[in-house]
This record gives sequence, C-alpha cells and structure tokens, in this order.
Amino acid sequence: MTKRLYIETVGCQMNVLDSEMVVASLRQHGYELTSDPLQADAILFNTCSVRQHAEDKIYSALGKLRGTKRQHPEKIIGVLGCMAQKDQQLIFERAPYVDLIVGPGQLHKVPELIERAAKGERRQAAVSLDRTDGPLPEIKRSHETFDPLRDPTMRPTPFQAYLRIQIGCDKFCTYCVVPMTRGPEQGRPPEQILDEARVLADQGCLEITLLGQTVNSYRYSDGARTTRLSDLLRMLHDVPGIRRLKFVTNYPKDMSDELLETVRELPKCSPYLHVPLQSGSTAVLERMKRGYTADDYRRMMERIREKLPEAAVSSDFIVGFCGETEDEFQQTVRAVAEYRFKNSFIFKYSERPGTKAMQRLPDDVPYAVKQRRNNELLQLQNQISEEDNQQFLGRSVEVLVEGPSKAAQRRGDTGPVLQMMGRTHCDRIVVFDGTLRQAGQLLNVAIYDLTAHTLLGAVQTHHVAPAVVQLL
Ligand code: SAH
Ligand code: SF4
Ligand code: F3S
Repeated sequence: MTKRLYIETVGCQMNVLDSEMVVASLRQHGYELTSDPLQADAILFNTCSVRQHAEDKIYSALGKLRGTKRQHPEKIIGVLGCMAQKDQQLIFERAPYVDLIVGPGQLHKVPELIERAAKGERRQAAVSLDRTDGPLPEIKRSHETFDPLRDPTMRPTPFQAYLRIQIGCDKFCTYCVVPMTRGPEQGRPPEQILDEARVLADQGCLEITLLGQTVNSYRYSDGARTTRLSDLLRMLHDVPGIRRLKFVTNYPKDMSDELLETVRELPKCSPYLHVPLQSGSTAVLERMKRGYTADDYRRMMERIREKLPEAAVSSDFIVGFCGETEDEFQQTVRAVAEYRFKNSFIFKYSERPGTKAMQRLPDDVPYAVKQRRNNELLQLQNQISEEDNQQFLGRSVEVLVEGPSKAAQRRGDTGPVLQMMGRTHCDRIVVFDGTLRQAGQLLNVAIYDLTAHTLLGAVQTHHVAPAVVQLL
C-alpha cells in the first residue's frame, strides 16, 4: 500500500539536495509525496542550525504537531539535517513525540529507521561522530555522502539539478556551526561525480549546479592524481547534453587563477561567482577567522574583473558580529559600494553554541543596531542591483526557462499565456509572458523593464521573416 510522506526543508542548497535524496529513497520504499502534513504517514523536517531563527521555526512547527501526534500516534515524525546533528537527544527532550532524528551524514538510514519507528520502536537516532569523538578517519567515515539515483520528477524542474561534489567544511569560521554539523571536508571521487552528471544529462538535465560549502576548495587525490574544481569542470564540460555548469559556494582564498581561466575558457561555465566577503573590515574578518584581509579580497576581485569582466559576483554578509563598531560596519558599506555585487545575502549575527565566537567573543552588538545595519546594507545593495540591471535594457539575453513566475504561482495561473521565469547564464532572474510548454527551453528574451532583482522581457521570435512583417 502507498504511504504518504510530507517533508519540509529549510537551510542551504545542500539541504534541498539532501531532501531530494531522502524522497528518492523513500519512494523506493513505497512512499508518495503529499503537501498536507495531516494526510501524511511520515512527517519529516530537514533542518538548519546556521542561525537561531532557523531552529526556532522548526521547534515551533514541531510544537504544532503535538496534538496531531496524540490523536494519531501511528504518524511518524522525524527531524533530519543539521539541527538533528547539533541537538541530538535534546530534540527528544524538547519534543518527546518525535520518533527519529537523523544527522546529515546518516541520511541513508532514514528508510530503515522509519520502518523501525512504525513497528513501535520509538526514538530512533542516527547521528555522525562529533569532531572530537575519535580519530579523523573514523569521524570522516561517520559523515557519509548520500547520493542515490534519483528520478527527474523529484526535482523542482527536470532540466536542472544540484550535484554534490564535496561534503563538510574545514574552514572553522568562528561564527559557524557547519564544520560541526557537516563534519570534515571530503571531496567525492571525480568518477562518481562524472557518472552522476552523465545520468542527469541522459535524463534531459541541461543545467548542473555543483555543490560544496567551499566548492572551490574541492580536491580529490587517489594517490597518483589530484583533481581540483577546474579539472572537474573540464570533465563535466564534455558531457553531451549539459548546457550550463554552475558551482556554489566559493571561498575567497581558494579562488585560483586557474579556476577563473577555466571558467573563461569553457562556454558552458556560467559567468557567475558566489564568493562571500562577510565583512569589509580586516579586524572583523580576523575575529571571524576568515583567513583573508579586506585587501586580499580586493586583489581577488581585481583578478575576477580582469579575467572575467562579464561575471556577476554575489556575496554574503554578517552584520553586528561580535564587537563590530560603527566604523567597521561602514567599511562593509564601502566594500558593497566598491564591488557592486549582483546581489548580497545579509544576515544579522546569531550566536551559535559550540562555535569559537560563542566561547571567546561576547555577542555585544544590540539587536536594534544589527537590524539598522542590516537595513542600511540591504538598501544600498538593492540600489546597486537596480542600477546594474539597467545595462540590460534593450538587450537580448538567453534564458533557461524554469516555469511559472512566483507571482503566477501565487495566483494559481495555468495559462494559456502566463508569466514565466527563467535565469540568464549569469544567474539573473528574468520574467516574461509565455506558456508552460516553454519550461526547459533556452530562449532569447528582449529586456524592456527591470527591478532590483528581476529583469522583465518579451520572448524574441527570430523566425518572423521581413517579407511576412510587410504583409502584416
Ligand atoms: N559555506 C558557505 C556558507 C555557509 S552558511 C560559505 O562559507 O560561504 C551561509 C551564510 O550564512 C554564510 O555565508 C554567512 O554569511 C551566514 N552565517 C553563517 N553563520 C552565521 C551566524 N552564526 N550568524 C549569522 N549568519 C551566519
Ligand atoms: Fe561556515 Fe566558514 Fe565553512 Fe562557510 S567556510 S561553511 S562560513 S565555516
Ligand atoms: Fe544550515 Fe546545515 Fe546548510 S546549518 S546552511 S543546512 S549546512
């Protein structure tokens, strides 16, 4: 009999991919997705711990299920992902009706643990070893990458896919939980990545986004040969069917000339680099232990502009980090003005248990100040994004059409003509009037209007011959 699965995902692209994999494996065990938790036999939350707010949301969603579980004890409730790894047994204490917790390095166990829970074996748990729990090889082994074969109907669109090339992180920025929740950095073997890319291409996938927390630090050595991200891109570039290759997220210090030259050389590589600066102040960067100075980042940006003048660069920022003075914050403002990022994700510093910052540095910037700095930076970034989008007015861009725009989805539009959305090669969002059948096509769109985050355009139909136009 078919069982129904409800899954809610928060956090980064890695989590989105993990959820896709969990759904793929549960399908093999007879589950079908439902969008209604009340209809579901299993309710799963794939969680994030990067900021307190992300955890609060999950605990509040769990709280709402307390009554449901009392009325329907047969429903399975599971917590997966980074919060499961970080809080472990604490989740059972805070929400005693949770049946299973599974860390991001143990996701292959989800089907088995659900089955056990269904048989009445309560409180199933599978988490990886903590970073201090033993010898490194053992810790690494306990953080397993989970990449079973998936069918294209499970992805948001069949012609786009995430492909994991690296798990974990070894950078240990002082504010960040990821090295704890995701464990040591490990590159996947290139042959596995290439095989997966071929399967994706055979399924009709046009765009692959390679994922890693510090994706450009990717390195895999089999003793005789070392493969880096630039080598991987060359290998993947030869896979027939693939039209676009992206990779996120980049670590500034590992942005090598070789990588930039590879992106320039290979037409399938998107001229888009997400390479977070976090702060414009060297003193703050030092407290964050980011491993580069404001000047190092400037030199990196100069290399990017020199080698890839057309590239869109985006960044992340944390405002109100421990001890951030107004002057230090203003250095971040100046950096945003100088680098003119395509877009920036801006976060208010959130103190995380287990991090060096929590142990050593007081979280002393008042919330109201964090909020004000966040708004100020966001306003400047929005103004820059809008100004930069003006360069596209009257130009034609190639768009990979993804599906109905957010507005069309909200309205429930089905056509025949509706607002569609897609992205340019440099990751800019484009909306235009079109049809559902255009999803998955690469179309030329002429841009006639814009906002800070969206280009508005009309599909160009090249096949209208001049003679026909005269007749019209
Ligand atoms: N691996 C990626 C990003 C991981 S988390 C990278 O290094 O770029 C995504 C973003 O969340 C980070 O870039 C950072 O800006 C933000 N972030 C991480 N920890 C945070 C914290 N404790 N408080 C606020 N923002 C945080
Ligand atoms: Fe976190 Fe820093 Fe690693 Fe990114 S590089 S995941 S911010 S520790
Ligand atoms: Fe969150 Fe874990 Fe990703 S903490 S940002 S889901 S790696």
